[in-house]
Amino acid sequence: MSADERAWWDDAVVYEVYPRSFADSNGDGVGDIAGVRSRLPYLSWLGVDAIWLTPFYPSPLADGGYDVSDYCDVDPLLGTLADFDALVAEARAHGIRVIIDLVPNHSSVNHPLFRAALAAGPGSRERARFIFRDAPGGEPPNNWPSQFGGPAWTRVPDGQWYLHLYDSSQPDWNWLDPDVPAFFEKVIRFWLDRDVAGLRVDVAHGLFKDPDLPDNPPAVPGLGPSAYRHRPELHALYRSWRSILDSYPPGVFPGRRTAIGEVWYDEPDTLRPYLEPGGLPQVFNFQLISAPWDTAALRAAIDATRSLAGGSRAPWVLGNHDVTRPVTRYARGEADDPERGERRARAAVLLLLALPGSAYIYQGEELGLPEVLALPPGARADPRFRRSGGERIGRDGCRVPLPWSAGGASFGFSGTSAGDPQASPWLPQPGDWGRRSVEAQRAEPGSFLSLYRAALRLRRGHPALGAGAMRWLDGVGSGSELLCFAREPGFIFAANLGRAPAALPPYREVLLASGEFGGGVLPPDTAAWLAG
Ligand code: NOJ
Repeated sequence: MSADERAWWDDAVVYEVYPRSFADSNGDGVGDIAGVRSRLPYLSWLGVDAIWLTPFYPSPLADGGYDVSDYCDVDPLLGTLADFDALVAEARAHGIRVIIDLVPNHSSVNHPLFRAALAAGPGSRERARFIFRDAPGGEPPNNWPSQFGGPAWTRVPDGQWYLHLYDSSQPDWNWLDPDVPAFFEKVIRFWLDRDVAGLRVDVAHGLFKDPDLPDNPPAVPGLGPSAYRHRPELHALYRSWRSILDSYPPGVFPGRRTAIGEVWYDEPDTLRPYLEPGGLPQVFNFQLISAPWDTAALRAAIDATRSLAGGSRAPWVLGNHDVTRPVTRYARGEADDPERGERRARAAVLLLLALPGSAYIYQGEELGLPEVLALPPGARADPRFRRSGGERIGRDGCRVPLPWSAGGASFGFSGTSAGDPQASPWLPQPGDWGRRSVEAQRAEPGSFLSLYRAALRLRRGHPALGAGAMRWLDGVGSGSELLCFAREPGFIFAANLGRAPAALPPYREVLLASGEFGGGVLPPDTAAWLAG
């Protein structure tokens, strides 16, 4: 593709919607598709280019919907296919594209094909679609762990074991069986035919397993290549998906279709084969999630991605529904300091949106929501909490339903006709959620929400923040704690990651700043967008 054929996703800002926690249209305490639809004007006002919906398919909800029992429908709790179509059409009217989540590593135990596999018994065609094994001696076939704790194997009454890299209710598909790719091709076309703009591919590093199922060595690297991560067979599959994506007409909204892989890694270099031409258009880079708040570390983290691909093929991200919210992450230190967390999270979003390429924002980040750590154990729904016997707190704290209004029963999360009964939100909201609500922040110039909106508007209008080249500015300012780069034409980003005020390089004008400053000196934990 030549420079003037940039794809829409090259510098898109995508907003991740966790539907059960976004907006509840019917007062049952669970967010739904009609709720997302009702908030499209907000998303358009905020200034995002696309939304990514995490799974909304029929599911027993053992893992927040990542346990799918029907890949081609909407869970009745969340609406209908007609609601989905209406959402896509209305989003389009706002110029917003819709990306959906494809979950190809595992299904739910309730999926008809898994039920058929259980019923058909050992050695059957039906069992070949999943990973069933015999194992002598009553022990699992190998030592692989479930990502949520405990072994990755569960035994069925006839004595065979099935593999589940996640919860026991999420059996892994056998991608070496030809039925499985054929099945998913149909699923992909089903949604692309409904005008979705792209797919976020869940566990994109994990679909293929070494068929010998060898034990993990004692010191297998956490997220590096192994018998079940980053297998070479993945890439032929992704090339085949790419040709499906590319077969849709580029000239009609939503335009060329994309797919973005969720690929976790220890070393960024592991992303290299995924970025070969002809594979998935994009994979996430999680560098900003893993890097500490330190100039050298952040710079190295950013350069590692840039040397591989740049942010158009490997979008930037500060958080998602699986990791501790940035405000809380950045508060951590020798002594936790919530104000520091907020200052750094504000500076971090200016970094996120100033880097070249595409960026993803997770719902509630724009409100500066913290991780809710004090959820009652009985309310927690994450299998990671359950399977670790409560030892690992899990991810519910970043999935608490959003506050839309400053007051009211669920801070505006559940909207029903006046007087109708309302169930409580499926996860309890903290008592002070109102001051963090959209309503409270919207008219407040210094709020998180105002900062996000201003940054998104500036980004859209500034020529440097699309395709503009990036170059580090070295030896500027008062010391090594200034993270500073230029984008062409005429844009400078600077963030002070140190503990003392730092002098800025010469600039013409302040376009936006994450905190107050004056006299060309940036206080600690503050970032600025400057006209150079
Ligand atoms: C990654 C998803 O983001 C996460 O929420 C889920 O639990 C696992 N994949 C398993 O599907």
